[in-house]
Amino acid sequence: MCGIIGYVGPLGAVGIVLSGLQRMEYRGYDSAGLAMLDSADGALKRVRVSGKIPDLQRAVEQELPEPVAGRCHIGIGHTRWATHGAPTVSNAHPHLSRNGRIAIVHNGIIENYLPLKQRLIGKGYRFESETDSEVLAHLIEECYDGDLHRAVAMALEMVEGTYGIAVVSSQHPDVIVAARKGSPIALGVGNGENIVASDVSAIVNYTTRVIYLDDEDIATITPAGVQISSLKNVPVNRELRHVDWQPGELEKGGFEHFMLKEIHEQPEALANAIRGRLLEKDGTTRLSGVQMEPADYARVSRIIIAACGTSYFAGMVGKYHFESLADLPTEVEQAAEFRYRNPIIERDSCLLAVSQSGETADTIEAVREARRKGANVLGICNVVGSTIARETGRGVYLHAGPEISVASTKAFSCQVVVLAMLAIAFGRARRMSAGVGRDLVAGLARVPQLAEAVLRQTDHIRQVAEKYADAEHCFYLGRGYMYPVALEGALKLKEISYIHAEGYHAAELKHGPIALLDETVPVVAVVPDVHGRSKTVNNMQECRARKSPVIAIATEGDDEVDQFADDIIRVPPCPDFLAPVPVVVAEQLLAYYIARKRGCPIDQPRNLAKSVTVE
Ligand code: AGP
Repeated sequence: MCGIIGYVGPLGAVGIVLSGLQRMEYRGYDSAGLAMLDSADGALKRVRVSGKIPDLQRAVEQELPEPVAGRCHIGIGHTRWATHGAPTVSNAHPHLSRNGRIAIVHNGIIENYLPLKQRLIGKGYRFESETDSEVLAHLIEECYDGDLHRAVAMALEMVEGTYGIAVVSSQHPDVIVAARKGSPIALGVGNGENIVASDVSAIVNYTTRVIYLDDEDIATITPAGVQISSLKNVPVNRELRHVDWQPGELEKGGFEHFMLKEIHEQPEALANAIRGRLLEKDGTTRLSGVQMEPADYARVSRIIIAACGTSYFAGMVGKYHFESLADLPTEVEQAAEFRYRNPIIERDSCLLAVSQSGETADTIEAVREARRKGANVLGICNVVGSTIARETGRGVYLHAGPEISVASTKAFSCQVVVLAMLAIAFGRARRMSAGVGRDLVAGLARVPQLAEAVLRQTDHIRQVAEKYADAEHCFYLGRGYMYPVALEGALKLKEISYIHAEGYHAAELKHGPIALLDETVPVVAVVPDVHGRSKTVNNMQECRARKSPVIAIATEGDDEVDQFADDIIRVPPCPDFLAPVPVVVAEQLLAYYIARKRGCPIDQPRNLAKSVTVE
């Protein structure tokens, strides 16, 4: 959940490291720092702050002014999301070795840091921080005998846990050593310059040629190139990939927040998600990354979906897809539960790991546990080359483009659509007829327009949102396909506005939670014209009877709901299996404008990080 970056080459490393940290600030942003090698005297210069990147920039101007900054052509940087130790300067990375000649930045958790720390203290090492990461700096010094690569490898062999690290030393003025285990590391390969970062968004401004390290890879990076080996120093080759994100995609594109930009990108993202994958004539879908033939689809007897957060709710929508479209028994598991509960996995089960970042620790471990039990495993990710994408080796990319805002939006709608396409492929290898398949595929072809129709109502949704911005509690109600969508709507609201919002099955409200309703607790009733609508309309009346204001998300032309709602957000008519898309766009805009009215830091909500790479 931290962002790390390193640069070595002919240019000024300070500016490159700072701009790279800015791009990764969404990964974690409670403290930050950088360390540079001054080419004039080879000395390591370190600057750290307890704050965000702009605070670091101001500190660098004070503590590393020109002409010193201009003499630094190699350096590393870090933006932190605290796991061990409060977000203080002393806990901020980079951490230095005892002799001050080695600096490291780390993303991950060293699980055995305490015994390692005790042993080092017993040998006279002094620690300045409460972090686990500082152990690495001293271990590397302890192992150092002139070969930095070897010292890092030896130190990492002692470590249990996860790491993505970058290391520099005043004794090696043109070398960065990087390594990964469980936390992503990407190498940007330039001409006469090279970059290492935990996230490709920090790299694409300089090069689109990227190498992703695998677990237990270690790389020596110089201006001339990169050498990658195992920790046992066995050379390895890793694929050089072309990243097709344009730098412009990483900017806000004129929107006030990345989140609003990404909400409005959904028609385009959805078009990219379905592009080349709908076979209208055959009434099916083509997902080549899955590497399965119809006979393979037919052999699967059960689907298991493992995911976290918003991706978990998308997986819950997927359950309705697989069971209603493909007659496939499907269970959806929170990845953190799945990985530890010794799950029952039959040989013909298929696990779908749903993850926008492809780096969520619990979902990665769910993949590994499923593979240990012999299941087929597919990854449904947005980030090309991410850990889940590479460890599953097969699956479906969302093609939604970079999702920068911590609150996931376009990834959810694209996940729902990708799961629908997968369900159609499974269904057509079973009882689904070509005719039914053609109808479903035709509906999918129009999904970008469904999102577009709701985006055209942005002003109306903003007016509704601003009426309820002072609420302290809120319920979202839905059933059937709309139950997971209600859960997602509540998550969106709570994570960016800090309002206590609960998603609930509409029928369950009367089994207790209705006691919480009164005129101060608005209820969002998710009642588009899909199966179960009339029952949820009844629940709306129950809420009204308790004086709760009701916001209905309902289908255009459905006038019945008017009498039971204080405000209505209209969505276009569509088949049940597609209704999550327009409805979630309405929920996203509602949450966004409520949070905006409340003056919340929407793209970087407190306590959150974009990718939870620790358990
Ligand atoms: C969603 O708005 C949240 N930021 C969070 O729940 C997120 O969906 C979850 O951490 C899973 O992330 P992933 O899709 O990258 O695995």
